[in-house]
Amino acid sequence: MKSNWEYGGYYRKHDMSGEVEIGTGIVKVHDIFDQLPDFMKHADCVFCDPPCSKQNINSFYTKAGRTDYQEDYRPFFERFFQIVDEISPKNLFIEVFKSNKDNFMAACKERYVQMEISESTYYHNKENRCWIIQATNDQPIIRFNGIDEQDAIELICKEVDFGCIADPCMGKGLVGYYANKYGKRFVGTELNPKRLAVLIERINSGKL
Ligand SMILES: C[S@@+](CC[C@H](N)C(=O)[O-])C[C@H]1O[C@@H](n2cnc3c(N)ncnc32)[C@H](O)[C@@H]1O
Repeated sequence: MKSNWEYGGYYRKHDMSGEVEIGTGIVKVHDIFDQLPDFMKHADCVFCDPPCSKQNINSFYTKAGRTDYQEDYRPFFERFFQIVDEISPKNLFIEVFKSNKDNFMAACKERYVQMEISESTYYHNKENRCWIIQATNDQPIIRFNGIDEQDAIELICKEVDFGCIADPCMGKGLVGYYANKYGKRFVGTELNPKRLAVLIERINSGKL
């Protein structure tokens, strides 16, 4: 039976093995529970929209063809912040949801002097509520004023002063697409090659 989670089938067209150089970036199919690739450590800014609950992680595992489901959200949360600590970005942006917002805010406050949270939406639908956390020690604070996540990512890639932006759970690669659009360096990892191949296609075609 044909899978519903082919994401356009671009993974058949693009070689997704090893470190893939594309546009201004480097990406890799990779599980964040494995050792962080060195190229990720060159980033000085992070934007990530990580899975927000155990159920959400496991739905991504299903889409990636994995059956070794997580029994708890905590290990993912802890591993995520180990990666943040390894990268140690000047600016950390995290898209969060009702289910993970409080814990992520607390973890950001432990690490950074300033932490701000802005309301946002996803898929340009006002019913789809999410928030964007910005954590920094010394960088200007951005107020997103309710704009959609996609527009927020574009704004960050266009306006924020960074040398390289990382997204450890890159998905179909909005961060990579917009960083490339504005000539900024990006790095990313993503569990599912089918999702990451969408970014390669988007950069090659120049269209979202
Ligand atoms: C909410 S999506 C991110 C969407 C992304 N912002 C985009 O532009 O498409 C979360 C992503 O985390 C990925 N993910 C889940 N578990 C992961 C893991 N252990 N390691 C790496 N990526 C993971 C999922 O496959 C999914 O693509």
